[in-house]
Amino acid sequence: MPITTCIFDAYGTLFDVSAAARQAAAEPEFAAIADSWPVLAEHWRQKQLQYTWLRAVVGAHEDFWTVTQEGLDWAMQKQGVGQDAALRERLLALYWELQSYPEVPEMLHSLKQMGMKTAILSNGSPQMLEGAVRSAGIEDVLDDTLSVETVGVFKPAPQVYDLVSKRFGCEKEEVLFVSSNGWDAACATGYGFETVWVNRAGDPPDRLPWRPSHSLSDLQKVPELAGG
Ligand code: LAC
Repeated sequence: MPITTCIFDAYGTLFDVSAAARQAAAEPEFAAIADSWPVLAEHWRQKQLQYTWLRAVVGAHEDFWTVTQEGLDWAMQKQGVGQDAALRERLLALYWELQSYPEVPEMLHSLKQMGMKTAILSNGSPQMLEGAVRSAGIEDVLDDTLSVETVGVFKPAPQVYDLVSKRFGCEKEEVLFVSSNGWDAACATGYGFETVWVNRAGDPPDRLPWRPSHSLSDLQKVPELAGG
């Protein structure tokens, strides 16, 4: 079945999640993380994701902004900067205006020119996603931004992936789901979407019962894949 609908994960896929720590680290007042910011960013991301999975399993949902702050608090304490309130405030502010990867606007434009439906499907809260989409300037090339807050559970719960067919009235087989998170792409394959894993870091595949349908090193070739 031809692809009609291209769905994108947000954080790490369209928006560069390490940009907040990288940018703060370059500011003179945050010299404390000038060298250690990559480790801080990695711990922040890993804890943020772990907390989403744990909250989903035990049914203790809070929105992604809460989980993002909890992950940051763990990561800052681990790096020995847990008392730096100004750094915490700066990192959180930067998270609302993350840069998109450079190829994102042109890639989305190409998909729209091909007549594809395009949307974000993310753990992010609607307000966070609105901020990120606006600061990346990609409102005009997205048909919608779907948030897990509609169903009150994080990915990879199938209720989240169900939001796509509910919104667009399409079959699973018509959907190309694109994520930089290997586990997200794998679980979306298990759900029934055709998937792309954007593996910028050259990571090994997650050992899960499913594998992404395709792997790319960035987003440039997504329109080519969607066009079959
Ligand atoms: C998201 C996280 C998983 O945007 O990156 O849903």
